Amino acid sequence: MEIIRTIKEMQNLSKKLSSKGVVIGCVPTMGYLHEGHLNLIRKAKEISDFVVMTLFVNPKQFGPNEDFERYPRDFDRDYKLAENAGCDLIFAPDIIEMYPIGFSTSVEIQNITSKFEGERRPGHFDGVALVVAKLFNAVKPDIAVFGQKDYQQTQVIKQLVRDLNFDVKIVVAPTVREADGLAMSSRNTYLTPELREKANVLFNALEDGIKAIEGGCRERKVINAIMHKRLRTVPEIKIDYACAALAENLDEPDVFLAGDHVVLLIACYLGTTRLIDNALVTIPKTNVSKK
Ligand code: PAJ
Repeated sequence: MEIIRTIKEMQNLSKKLSSKGVVIGCVPTMGYLHEGHLNLIRKAKEISDFVVMTLFVNPKQFGPNEDFERYPRDFDRDYKLAENAGCDLIFAPDIIEMYPIGFSTSVEIQNITSKFEGERRPGHFDGVALVVAKLFNAVKPDIAVFGQKDYQQTQVIKQLVRDLNFDVKIVVAPTVREADGLAMSSRNTYLTPELREKANVLFNALEDGIKAIEGGCRERKVINAIMHKRLRTVPEIKIDYACAALAENLDEPDVFLAGDHVVLLIACYLGTTRLIDNALVTIPKTNVSKK
């Protein structure tokens, strides 16, 4: 499997491949791969001819008090895992290649970024949008695959693609979980064994929310309270948010209507580790609302 480190080389190869009719699939990552990432590579391989995984820990999407410095990195391990999953090439630029001296451009995405992750992590999604725009301009993919694990991020990227006319099809693949339900994340490695054992409470809270909705509950605050109740069974948890919202635009009506697609979004601290998770559910058509 090839490694490319410069934007120019990446662009030249992409142009060559595209001129031959090769469909390029792209999987952007920050590395320290797990099954969630590998599943995106496999998905990309299914729907394209040549899979480029990008590996870049993007400083612009980390806040000043976040974990940029300690974010886990292991290139050799990532190389082997990506290759085994069917990746054809890793594009791994360094920071100076991506943000040379004099770099002056920002990308700001409004509305969809005003709540949840966007509100708690100011500037985060602007950093994500900027780096994804640059990665798309380097890789020139026909298709790019992202994980539902970062639900709001997928919304931001779809908005970016629409607004800036990127000629890329965005595909979202489901969240891959550990056996106990914990969503896989490179940040799970920060958890102590004791906290790791309790971390599946996020998944359990999502399940409780889904059950309530499937049982007929449509009141947003009641659904939120049900998720909070389950999360509070773990004393070490600090809830950032646990909210139901419309999947389409993250609006929060008091009552959901039959047929609405709802996303349940959770962010919590377990010790110093911040975990996020989400689930999609449709409000059933037949049930009468009950608490
Ligand atoms: P990273 O956290 O490395 O995630 C890379 C991709 O893997 C994202 O699309 C993310 O949603 C997906 N992913 C992570 N955990 C997953 C899981 N358990 N199941 C399925 N997919 C999962 O997200 C980023 O990097 C960055 O913000 C990036 C888009 C690369 C821009 O820097």
